[in-house]
Amino acid sequence: MEIINNIEEMQNRCLEARAAGQKIAFVPTMGFLHEGHLSLLREGRQQGDLLVLSIFVNPTQFGQGEDLDRYPRDFERDEAMARECGVDLIFYPCADAIYPAGYATYVSVDGPLTNTLEGASRPTHFRGVTTVVTKLFTIVMPHVALFGRKDFQQLAVIRRMTADLNLPVEIIGMPIVREPDGLAMSSRNVYLTDSERGQALALVDTLRTSAARVGQGERDPEKVLLQARQRLNMEPDLVIDYVKICRADTLEEADTIDDRSVMLLAVRVGKTRLIDNGLLLEKV
Ligand code: PAJ
Repeated sequence: MEIINNIEEMQNRCLEARAAGQKIAFVPTMGFLHEGHLSLLREGRQQGDLLVLSIFVNPTQFGQGEDLDRYPRDFERDEAMARECGVDLIFYPCADAIYPAGYATYVSVDGPLTNTLEGASRPTHFRGVTTVVTKLFTIVMPHVALFGRKDFQQLAVIRRMTADLNLPVEIIGMPIVREPDGLAMSSRNVYLTDSERGQALALVDTLRTSAARVGQGERDPEKVLLQARQRLNMEPDLVIDYVKICRADTLEEADTIDDRSVMLLAVRVGKTRLIDNGLLLEKV
């Protein structure tokens, strides 16, 4: 397994792979890998001849007062896990290489896809994501790139950006990987105390009870949302950021629930912000 820090070296390596007719599969991450990331790598291994993983805690997608400084990092552990999944190459740049002095160019997707939900709570977040993902695409030049539906809105924004900019890369969305008790895997779960970890299960419980109610025939979003908020509010250290039912393609709020309706949740448990989502007519 190769590890490359330098951007030009990475571009040359990927150009060579392309010239040799290899298909490049790419999984961008911020590291501190868990089974969610590994599921993308395993699918990437099936999809490509050259499997590239990037590890970069991207400063531009963190807002003021967010957890950039304490975001968990463990390169040696990530390296071992990547090797297990058959990664060929890790791209591991430093922040000064990606954003050198004088850096001034940003890519942003406008409109409801980015100004609602996560975008409303974290106004500069998606601009940071779309900027770094565009840069990573021009460095790695992948044929396919894999993203998790855990970050449902991020996936929609990246699909929009890729289509709008005619980027020659196929975007593959992958299912949410959960802990045995249902908590969606996240690098941020390590922040949780035991008590907070227990309270965080309210997220998946809310998704499941909401889907069950829809399964019984309820189609009114307001009724399902009222019950969802009541469930979340039972936890003493949990503060709701948002709970919404949206159309899966546009992320506009749904007037009525159908098979394209997704429930999206963001909460704070203690100091930790957690997100989760699920289609309401599918089993979570
Ligand atoms: P990160 O949070 O490290 O996630 C990297 C990828 O793993 C994303 O596509 C995310 O959706 C996916 N992922 C995380 N948890 C998952 C889970 N439980 N099940 C399935 N997939 C999961 O998302 C980012 O990094 C960054 O915003 C990035 C795209 C790398 C840009 O900086």
